[in-house]
Amino acid sequence: MFVAPACAIAWGAGCADDPSPVGPDDSDAGDAGVIEASPVEDAGPDASELDCAKDLDADEIWKHLECSGLYASFADKTVAPDVKPYKPGVEFWSDGAEKQRWVYLPPGSKIDISDWNEWTYPRGTKLWKEFKVGGKRIETRLFKKLADDTWVHTTYRWNADETDAVRKDGGEVVAGLGPDAGPYEVPSTGQCDQCHMGRKDQVLGFDAVGLGLATATGETLAKLAADGALSAAPPATTLAFPGDAVASSAIGWVNTNCGSCHNANAGASAGFKSHFLVRASDLAPADGGAPKAVEELDLWTQGYCVDAFRADPDGNTYMYIRGGAPERSLMSILAGSRVPAGELPTAGVQMPPIVSRAVDHAGVKLFDDWIATLDACPPP
Ligand code: HEC
Ligand code: HEC
Repeated sequence: MFVAPACAIAWGAGCADDPSPVGPDDSDAGDAGVIEASPVEDAGPDASELDCAKDLDADEIWKHLECSGLYASFADKTVAPDVKPYKPGVEFWSDGAEKQRWVYLPPGSKIDISDWNEWTYPRGTKLWKEFKVGGKRIETRLFKKLADDTWVHTTYRWNADETDAVRKDGGEVVAGLGPDAGPYEVPSTGQCDQCHMGRKDQVLGFDAVGLGLATATGETLAKLAADGALSAAPPATTLAFPGDAVASSAIGWVNTNCGSCHNANAGASAGFKSHFLVRASDLAPADGGAPKAVEELDLWTQGYCVDAFRADPDGNTYMYIRGGAPERSLMSILAGSRVPAGELPTAGVQMPPIVSRAVDHAGVKLFDDWIATLDACPPP
């Protein structure tokens, strides 16, 4: 999507689709050229025909997933030894897709946690998220940090026999692949921004809250701290949402599924609306103070018994969270609704307002079960 204009303005010749050779590549020449006579010789016995030295597009994104560094052997799907798997404590709903995630942190680098709530990742960081439906790889998404405040990202679309995955920036709606034979949407790169620009350094889930929960696996907060991968000792290495099991599960679900857009950060796409993100400092203040109670979270102060600007069927105003009444709570209603098949998602009908075509029934139930336990709100 944005490749062509960026090419035209910044590079002129040598664009992604330009058949003419780009000429010597400053970034990869030099050292590599001295050590290896040619990139082809470097390929090794079981590598494919792909020449990764020529795979990088002008915007620093590889055309093929195979060249992105995720795999040591693409044919066997063996993950490279310096790439580590992880799972955040609560996963985002992706229309039933099964997901795997990996992170690469350059050797010796540290994640800057001086802002405990908004981490800054080292230059060279890469994160991948793979989506499988019915046991088959559909897409693998990539974020790659080039410089301070500069990330590039794309998704790689797998072919039917899973032998190749090629960069796809324009998005795709795949009929019949979602739950109940509905559509599955591969986001466009512009849609990535609508969620990912909501956090200061664009990374979601690989943060203090996502990695600090007891249900996180792989590169957890405790492991990163123990491995010296953080710029300082964190205020805590395990975090938990407040409230009983019903409340904390619901809060965790809202935090992951709604918080990246609904928060006070400058880039958040719903920053002007209610804020549903739970901050690491809510759970473990950097000064060692007490964690916040449920009633002190933004989700509560901006949601519980707060009027939403829409009339409900009784002629009252919906509340974001109306205690005891999930069916009159706008957050639950929009989370539990999707546009009809064949239509484009809109914020008036569904939350999240993009990409998703199927309701997260289990997640919405967690939320509704909690709302059902809350005291009724004062009458309007
Ligand atoms: C509707 C919101 C949404 C959209 C659109 C979206 N993501 Fe994400 N993404 C998330 C959330 C939330 C997480 C963290 C939770 C998880 O991993 O389950 C995440 C995690 C990731 C991760 C792992 C951690 C990180 O932040 O790097 C990658 C990689 C990623 N997304 C890439 C992409 C790319 C590339 C696109 C567009 C092609 C995209 N995402 C579109 C919400 C979104
Ligand atoms: C991709 C970003 C994104 C995600 C993720 C997201 N929202 Fe929103 N939300 C928005 C935007 C943008 C608006 C404002 C839409 C408008 O005013 O037209 C909005 C508005 C709302 C509103 C107010 C609607 C109204 O009529 O005033 C509610 C309630 C809401 N979101 C709930 C949720 C819930 C619950 C979740 C998680 C299940 C969620 N949102 C996830 C972007 C998002």
